[in-house]
Amino acid sequence: MFTKTFAALIAAAVVLGAPTPGPAPTQTNVLQFALSLEYLESAFYSGALAQYDAQAFADAGFPSWVRGRFEQIAQHEQTHVSTLQNALGDQAPQACQYSFGRLTDAESPYTDPRSFVSLSFAIEGVGAAAYLGASKFIDDKDTLGVAASILSIEERQVAWVSSAVLKQQPWDGPFETPLSPSGAYSLASQFITSCPSSNPPLPVTPFPALSVSNASPWPGSTINLTFDNSNNADAAYAVWLNGLDAVFTPLDGNGQTTVPDGLHGTVYVGVASSEQTPMSDASMVTGLAIVQMPFDSTAVEA
Ligand SMILES: *[C@@H]1O[C@H](CO)[C@@H](O)[C@H](O)[C@H]1NC(C)=O
Repeated sequence: MFTKTFAALIAAAVVLGAPTPGPAPTQTNVLQFALSLEYLESAFYSGALAQYDAQAFADAGFPSWVRGRFEQIAQHEQTHVSTLQNALGDQAPQACQYSFGRLTDAESPYTDPRSFVSLSFAIEGVGAAAYLGASKFIDDKDTLGVAASILSIEERQVAWVSSAVLKQQPWDGPFETPLSPSGAYSLASQFITSCPSSNPPLPVTPFPALSVSNASPWPGSTINLTFDNSNNADAAYAVWLNGLDAVFTPLDGNGQTTVPDGLHGTVYVGVASSEQTPMSDASMVTGLAIVQMPFDSTAVEA
């Protein structure tokens, strides 16, 4: 059920120059980055709810509380926006222009309430993973507490979307997956069409978009990773991020690799030049794509 949405999510069409990793982000950089993601989430929910009324959700087969809870989520995101705007004061970036409706001619990330819900699952997960991965750059403990409070609610939201609404797994294992700012932004940026030129630069390195031949792959199967490698980067490995694990599989010259065993649920895959962990922008070759690995829905076995 996720395949179509995720295929769209990973098929960005941005042409990027040679990546140049920058210095470690400051706390202000991280809050500006968090606000950028909150703007995106807020626009995503308010736009979809404006488009789909209670009848549209009912016609899609959802009970009435589903849309009601999405309204609450939309309000949370709006509150996160204003909280971060207040924290940043005149250093706050402005909102960008977004497009969730049609990225390419071939695919539309959401076209009805059901595909909106699937995309919500992906966007919430990326948002939560971004807070988790960026938290180590927040020096002030009180600010870290506020960020952790936002992160907790994003996690509750994604667990609710995944399990209560989509009847999928509420978690992927004992650890959440942290994403680096560049990793998270490589997924979020495909929904951003333009930003005010006055906005401060975000603490991210741009990487070529990655697409996968199968967004719900089976362990042991072969998968093709497609990306623009006009920089001739050393695309030696696929890296699979799941919880606190980073699993590396050798990538052949055609971009083919074997899907590893032992991963569950939402997995972020990218291309890396080395098996260095923790991953840094220096060893990233592409942006990330999302795949869903089998995770038994009967919950008898993890
Ligand atoms: C994967 O790549 C191989 C070799 O380049 C090609 O023959 C095959 O059709 C591709 N499979 C998919 C599903 O794209």
